[in-house]
Amino acid sequence: MYRLFASAALVATASAVTTNFTSTVDPTKINIPNTPQTTSYDVSTECTYYAPPVPIVPTDWPSNWQVATSNGMNTSAEYTALYNSINWGSVPNIQPRTLGPDGSLVRTGYDTVNDPDCWWTATQCVTPKAAGVLKDISACPEPETWGLTYDDGPNCSHNAFYDFLQQQNLKASMFYIGSNVMNWPYGAQRGVKDGHHIAVHTWSHPMMTTLSNQAVLAELYYATKMIKYVTGVTPLYWRPPLGDVDDRVRWIASQLNLTAIIWNLDTDDWAAGTTVTVQQVQQNYQNFIQAGTNGTFASKGNIVLSHEINNMTMDFAVQNIPNIKKAYKNILDVATCMNITHPYVETSISFAAFSGGSSSNGSVSPGGNGSSSPNSAASGTQANAALAIAAAFAVVAFL
Ligand SMILES: *[C@@H]1O[C@H](CO)[C@@H](O)[C@H](O)[C@H]1NC(C)=O
Ligand SMILES: *[C@@H]1O[C@H](CO)[C@@H](O)[C@H](O)[C@H]1NC(C)=O
Ligand SMILES: *[C@@H]1O[C@H](CO)[C@@H](O)[C@H](O)[C@H]1NC(C)=O
Ligand SMILES: *[C@@H]1O[C@H](CO)[C@@H](O)[C@H](O)[C@H]1NC(C)=O
Ligand SMILES: *[C@@H]1O[C@H](CO)[C@@H](O)[C@H](O)[C@H]1NC(C)=O
Ligand SMILES: *[C@@H]1O[C@H](CO)[C@@H](O)[C@H](O)[C@H]1NC(C)=O
Ligand SMILES: *[C@@H]1O[C@H](CO)[C@@H](O)[C@H](O)[C@H]1NC(C)=O
Ligand SMILES: *[C@@H]1O[C@H](CO)[C@@H](O)[C@H](O)[C@H]1NC(C)=O
Ligand SMILES: *[C@@H]1O[C@H](CO)[C@@H](O)[C@H](O)[C@H]1NC(C)=O
Ligand SMILES: [Zn+2]
Repeated sequence: MYRLFASAALVATASAVTTNFTSTVDPTKINIPNTPQTTSYDVSTECTYYAPPVPIVPTDWPSNWQVATSNGMNTSAEYTALYNSINWGSVPNIQPRTLGPDGSLVRTGYDTVNDPDCWWTATQCVTPKAAGVLKDISACPEPETWGLTYDDGPNCSHNAFYDFLQQQNLKASMFYIGSNVMNWPYGAQRGVKDGHHIAVHTWSHPMMTTLSNQAVLAELYYATKMIKYVTGVTPLYWRPPLGDVDDRVRWIASQLNLTAIIWNLDTDDWAAGTTVTVQQVQQNYQNFIQAGTNGTFASKGNIVLSHEINNMTMDFAVQNIPNIKKAYKNILDVATCMNITHPYVETSISFAAFSGGSSSNGSVSPGGNGSSSPNSAASGTQANAALAIAAAFAVVAFL
């Protein structure tokens, strides 16, 4: 298993942390029923309400798409025990950051030259300066390797996309938002069943460096707990929304044994039609594809940021993957390209280590038995609520 510690002190610190990551779901035996919601390619059919595969009691969880300290979570016995089990005396002394009137992070006054906090948003720093902090992963080390990652799932309306990845024999690292897992549990189960590498993308998609220690902990804890509850896996990797991470946030994530996975190429797919044009995003894809053939990645690979967030971003993927396959030797999820054979606490699921001979259409098949039934799954409860939620998300994401 691949792990990088800035300091070995983490292991001792983290072992005391109190968690309640439980599930009745065996991730190696996920059975997704064959229903219109899990097989259709018609969005309104896919997004029609169905009962979740495990009972989800809203009072047990933070409010959907609200900061994870909401709904009384920060005063619950469980959260209090978790919080108190952490040795906060060691947390890096970094103040929460602020958002300006336009909703973007205020960087005024930050010392970007010395970058004392290893603040990615300011400097793209991925090597922590604080002790006891897990180091970020930001590129697949193998030559001519495209690190395939999709953020902001799961959702209903993604059956065609997951079927496409399955047909292409591709596994991706999927960064799931806890609130989306709550809304679309079969979508999350599909990701695990198909053998994708599932990782945490917070409960409500905030700028993490702006939150209090309590809220950072809650965002990571409840998203991880929801993924475990619904799919049976406890991820050991996460991605900060918009890459917004510093050593304080990394330290808190490290208490939960969560390592950050960043990227070194950004498609900007989610912003197409808003702050960038659709053409620019296609050009980004073309540049990254060309870089696969002109020697840019002759000695090491990349990790590419892309999204499953909506039809447009999924279509960028569907259109470009054939050419990515031609240009790169390997297209791999991050667990596989990093030889992380156990990306979850549960050792019942193993990923193949990188094997030099494998190509993107080759035989790498990590994860829990991806190739069972040809049918697909994704849908959710609260279809109407999701529309309102998506609107709120768009406001945050497009800033
Ligand atoms: C983190 O990993 C250590 C070492 O494997 C383990 O003892 C500890 O229980 C883990 N902590 C959490 C919160 O999972
Ligand atoms: C742990 O989680 C399970 C399932 O969600 C729940 O039934 C149980 O009450 C929880 N235990 C504690 C101590 O919170
Ligand atoms: C995985 O799939 C193989 C063949 O399809 C099957 O024999 C095996 O029982 C499956 N393993 C699990 C854990 O589901
Ligand atoms: C709990 O979080 C809410 C915000 O969701 C906050 O208003 C309240 O002060 C917090 N309570 C404690 C005890 O931290
Ligand atoms: C390879 O292609 C990329 C994308 O067009 C370009 O940025 C880079 O400069 C090229 N490198 C070489 C060595 O030609
Ligand atoms: C996007 O929507 C179009 C039109 O409904 C559909 O043909 C296409 O398959 C969708 N793409 C994906 C990846 O779901
Ligand atoms: C992964 O394993 C392969 C084969 O043993 C090795 O060549 C490569 O260096 C390893 N990569 C990492 C990131 O450990
Ligand atoms: C990948 O596909 C090409 C063309 O279909 C084929 O020639 C090649 O053998 C395949 N590679 C593997 C490892 O399956
Ligand atoms: C989920 O998918 C629906 C249907 O495509 C879409 O309207 C909504 O914006 C998506 N929600 C999120 C939070 O991505
Ligand atoms: Zn995101």
